[in-house]
Amino acid sequence: MKNGAPVAKISAAARYLPDRVMTNADLERMVDTSDSWIRERTGIVERRIAAEGESTTEMGARAANRALAKAGLEPSDVDLIIVTTATPDRWLPSTACEVQSRIGASRSSLAFDLHAACTGFLYAVSMAEGYVAAGRGEVVLVVSSEKMSSILNWEDRATCVLFGDGAGAVVVQPSENGEGILSSFHRSDGDMADLLQRPAGGAARPLDETVLREKEHLMQMSGREVFKSAVRSMAKAGRTVLGEAGLNSDHVDLMVPHQANIRIIESTARYSRIPMEKVFVNLDRYGNISSATIPVGLDEAEEAGLIGPGSLVLMTSFGAGLTWGAMAMRW
Ligand code: UT7
Repeated sequence: MKNGAPVAKISAAARYLPDRVMTNADLERMVDTSDSWIRERTGIVERRIAAEGESTTEMGARAANRALAKAGLEPSDVDLIIVTTATPDRWLPSTACEVQSRIGASRSSLAFDLHAACTGFLYAVSMAEGYVAAGRGEVVLVVSSEKMSSILNWEDRATCVLFGDGAGAVVVQPSENGEGILSSFHRSDGDMADLLQRPAGGAARPLDETVLREKEHLMQMSGREVFKSAVRSMAKAGRTVLGEAGLNSDHVDLMVPHQANIRIIESTARYSRIPMEKVFVNLDRYGNISSATIPVGLDEAEEAGLIGPGSLVLMTSFGAGLTWGAMAMRW
């Protein structure tokens, strides 16, 4: 916001989901779990899993191309590309540079990765807003692409049933008619870093035989602690951004929350005083796609006619770090 008017808007949202579906019944054959436990405790029924050669870059580039086409833009129009991912294809260079090359935007734009786990999308849209507000560029592509299947321990039932693969992308451009980002709020708590992590495989403890044998390069999570913190922080962040925009929960047309667990979504909605009819849910079909959940949700919500020009959209998210945030936007 500048002088009470939004400076940047999301002009297009798009998604790419891999074709392969993994159901709860498939997981029953892999770990000691059940369809009823997964449905009741998480709300997830099935998720998408990338094919062997389908990379984070590939999925991100497909979503990015669709978003640009929807916005009526060419790759050469893009000034900045921010890729959010917890599953970069390589440690060096950034996945953003690989996406930039794949979509044909090399040299005419700058590209970098932003890592804020599941909250990455909202952080990146805020950075895009700042870039546009500073007059540094007019077209920012935010690409959230996650190949969670590549960092899951498929023997750990407490995590492997929760996540899926996919990508979402949005184009951020200057606002023209009062639409766009009304307010946003973001925080992190590094004291909670160990609650959701890949303990080894990075610079502090590089990959070696022990790490691989103990599967310490894969994701580990203290689910219950993350759960409690998620509800508190998302509901508070949501109230903060509505208050800052001079709005309340009655003004919200659709809440698009991060999709991690239906019980987290329902509790957040209850604390936020937003009825579930106004809450977007696709967790049942995709599981938790980390930072891609919100852009995928925006694209699907628009396609379903749940949001259109003038709608007030409230987005909330949380994830490893811990990180969390919210954004209120006039579509
Ligand atoms: O984007 C951010 C990512 N973070 C998250 O998504 C984490 C949020 N947390 C959660 O969604 C929930 O905490 C979980 C779904 C991870 C777990 O649900 P819960 O209700 O907190 O269960 P719990 O961890 O307290 O475990 C209850 C029981 C345990 O058995 P005992 O000790 O009571 O015998 C677990 O071993 O459920 C067991 N359990 C399972 N049983 C069947 C854990 N995972 C499974 C499973 N199938 N997949």
